[in-house]
Amino acid sequence: PYLERMHRFDVLEEKVKQILNLDHVIIAPGDSDQEEWVKFDLGRRAYEFLQTRLKPNDTIAVTGGTSMAAVAEMMQPSTNGTNCLFVPARGGLGERVENQANTICAEMANKMNGEYRLLYVPDPLSEETYQSIIQEPGVREVLEMIQQADVVMHGIGDACTMAERRKTPDHVLDKLKKGNAVSEAFGYYFDRQGQVVSKVRTVGMQLEDLSNVKTVIAVAGGKSKAEAIESFFKQGRSNVLITDEGAAKMLIKGS
Ligand code: BG6
Repeated sequence: PYLERMHRFDVLEEKVKQILNLDHVIIAPGDSDQEEWVKFDLGRRAYEFLQTRLKPNDTIAVTGGTSMAAVAEMMQPSTNGTNCLFVPARGGLGERVENQANTICAEMANKMNGEYRLLYVPDPLSEETYQSIIQEPGVREVLEMIQQADVVMHGIGDACTMAERRKTPDHVLDKLKKGNAVSEAFGYYFDRQGQVVSKVRTVGMQLEDLSNVKTVIAVAGGKSKAEAIESFFKQGRSNVLITDEGAAKMLIKGS
């Protein structure tokens, strides 16, 4: 039965890979919407995958969220990633401290005996503040590290869930509703076709920057995220997905 199960996931992984047009898909058994431990299993698999890609002195940019917090939780000292540097991909984006990119990034660095640099900027920012804050030497230095990241690891959220979690103002909620936003990643909200509906103005990685990064790993599971996952990959900027059986089965059903 174990081999049968392995085989079952091989087939599922292949299907999801084709639907989303990805290089790698890894599926953990179960559904993280139903059971908390599945998220940690996703975290473990994401860490294991990261290990296969890391080289000494690599820079890894990470986002916030509970999925990335689970990756941090499962990390251990690495032999491949010696001297690696962790940076937050973007600002806090309205998350609770334990789920903010800064916190996760520091925890990952501690677990893997690496270094970290943080971004101390509020968000959302007005256009004017944004333009002046990115000129600050301290911010600029970290921004350059982010733009030169070797690996990016990020979460994908359901648009409504994320907008609620961020206590998004009414006029933005209206915009998301009118634009039929279904997914969110890096502070960008996307519709079903992967078009950007709205974005949170803040410093850090912009969607365009992702095209220059060799390895972009998305970590997102749970049946409730299937639509969001499909929408995010329509704009095709990540090449690896670590997900769970719940999301994967829903994805192939919907396509
Ligand atoms: C947020 C990121 O912190 O986490 C978002 O800024 C991402 O881009 C979200 O969508 C995912 O959160 P979770 O808890 O569902 O992993």
